[in-house]
Amino acid sequence: MSKPFRIAIFASGNGTNAEAIMNYFQSHSLIEVGLILSNNKEAKVLERADRFNVSSLTFDKTEFRDPATILTSLEQQSITHIVLAGFMWLVPRYLVNAYPDKIVNIHPALLPKFGGKGMYGMHVHQAVKNASELVTGITIHLVNEHYDEGAIVLQKTCSVASSDSVEDIADKVHTLEHHWYPITIENWITK
Ligand code: GAR
Repeated sequence: MSKPFRIAIFASGNGTNAEAIMNYFQSHSLIEVGLILSNNKEAKVLERADRFNVSSLTFDKTEFRDPATILTSLEQQSITHIVLAGFMWLVPRYLVNAYPDKIVNIHPALLPKFGGKGMYGMHVHQAVKNASELVTGITIHLVNEHYDEGAIVLQKTCSVASSDSVEDIADKVHTLEHHWYPITIENWITK
């Protein structure tokens, strides 16, 4: 018997956040991860999905632009909520319209700082270092058809030392993400 809330996770790469989410909801009473979707056939997140026995689907740009391909898969899996976890493409309007206020993203900085097109992954941490920021963090926000612009659900901060490398900053941010993203998804879905 499937659970009332079923998440689809879109991820483009490594998928450590996707893993933290699959792990957190593994034996949850109300929420389960039903599908992992990726634009990258080589993405490590696909191996992580296999390990958790979660179905996965890959797509190219043409398929992503075609509502039928993606929406049919989401409907077949009875997906109620969408989670972006390191997904690097802009979400098309048809998907936002099909899941209004039901799509959430995590951004590895304190929006509105260091957001927008081209600001993803290590580029963000490099920009934080270049700007000599003393604080960075995470932003979890609802998704609309513009990069990094939906309503903010949660922000958490961590300090940045001048001696921190870009990788150090990324590690600190990842630690925050793995802790806060699953809990925040749970609260957002069940509130
Ligand atoms: C995460 O830090 C996430 O915040 C970021 O990509 C990383 C993916 O890591 N997302 C963005 O930059 C979106 N603009 P992961 O593949 O290990 O979860």
